[in-house]
Amino acid sequence: MRVLYAGDPEEKALWEGALRAADPQMDLIMEPGQADPASVEALLYAPSGPLRDVAPYRNLRFIQSLWAGVERILGEGRLPAGVPLARMVEPGLERGMVEYMLGHGLRIHLETERFREAQARELWAPQAPPLASGRPVGVLGLGELGAAVARALAGVGFPVSGWSRSPKPGIGAEIRALSGPEGLEEILKSSEILMVLLPLTPETRGLLNARTLALLPRGAQIVNAARGPILEEEALLAALESGALGGATLDVFAVEPLPPGHPFWRHPRILVTPHVASATRPETAAQVVAAQMRRLARGERPLHLVDRGRGY
Ligand SMILES: NC(=O)c1ccc[n+]([C@@H]2O[C@H](COP(=O)([O-])OP(=O)(O)OC[C@H]3O[C@@H](n4cnc5c(N)ncnc54)[C@H](OP(=O)(O)O)[C@@H]3O)[C@@H](O)[C@H]2O)c1
Repeated sequence: MRVLYAGDPEEKALWEGALRAADPQMDLIMEPGQADPASVEALLYAPSGPLRDVAPYRNLRFIQSLWAGVERILGEGRLPAGVPLARMVEPGLERGMVEYMLGHGLRIHLETERFREAQARELWAPQAPPLASGRPVGVLGLGELGAAVARALAGVGFPVSGWSRSPKPGIGAEIRALSGPEGLEEILKSSEILMVLLPLTPETRGLLNARTLALLPRGAQIVNAARGPILEEEALLAALESGALGGATLDVFAVEPLPPGHPFWRHPRILVTPHVASATRPETAAQVVAAQMRRLARGERPLHLVDRGRGY
C-alpha cells in the first residue's frame, strides 16, 4: 500500500527517518509529485502540509491526521468525506500533555504567583498552600488526553472530576466522571482549577462564556490547552477584571499567533504559552502510523476514526 506524507515540510526528514525505522517495508512517498496520485492509498495529512488539491488522489482508502485536533481538516473541506479519517493518538503526544497540565496545575496549586508578588514587595507572608487533596480540579474532556491528565492529577492527590459527552462509568474510582448539562454545572461549581481538553466542535465553541465562567468558585484558575474558541476571550477578561477568576494559563487562542497588542500579552493574571502544550512526536507517532497501515492491510478498521457528524 502506497503511503504519502503530506505533513509539515519542516518535519519531513524527522518523519521519514521515524517511518522507515517503524516499517522498513513501507511504500513511502515523502512529497506529492514523487508518484502518480492515483497510486496513493493512504495519506498522512496536516493542514500545514503542501497538499492543496486532493482530487487527483482518487484511490485513497485512509487518511491519518498528524494532529490530534481535526477541526481545521473538517473545516477546510478539502479531503474526501467518504474516506475514513483518523485522529492522531500516540504516546508522545499524551505524555507531553500530561507534563504540561501537571506542571501548570502544580504551579497554580502552589500559588507561586502570590509568592512572586510578595517577594516583589519584600513581604514575608508565610501562608502555605493546602495539600493537593484540598484542591479540587476539573478536567473538561475525558478522551485520550483528558483521561490521561485526570489520572495523573489524581495520582498526585488532587480530587479530580472529569466531564465528557457520554458517561464514563469505567474510568476508575479515583475520578468523579460527569456528563451532560448537569454534569457541566457540577464540575464548574466545584473546580478550583479547571483544565480544558475538549475538541473544538459546534457544541464546544464558546462553551466557556460569561454564564458558565460565573459558576466557577471565586478565584478559580483556568488552563486551556484545547482550542482557543472554546473559551470566550472577552468573558475571560471580564471575569479576571472583576476578581471572579484568579488567573488563566492559555496555550491556544482564537487567533494564532496571538496578535501584537492583544490584551492577553501583558495581562498580569494570564500566562501565555504559544501552542506548545503538546505535539505529535514522530519518533513515537511513526509506530502508531505503521500499526494503522498493518490494520488496513489485514482488512481491519483503523483506530481512532473521526465521526464527521460529531466533529471529532
Ligand atoms: N494545545 C496543544 O498543544 C494540543 C495538543 C493536542 C491536542 N489538543 C487538543 O486537545 C483536544 C482533545 O484531544 P483528545 O485526543 O483527548 O480528544 P478525544 O480523545 O477525541 O477526546 C475528546 C473528549 O471531549 C469530549 N467531548 C467532545 N465533545 C463534547 C461535548 N459537546 N460535551 C462534553 N464532552 C465532549 C469527548 O466525550 P466522549 O468521550 O463522550 O466522546 C471526549 O471525552 C484535541 O481535539 C485538540 O484540540 C491540543
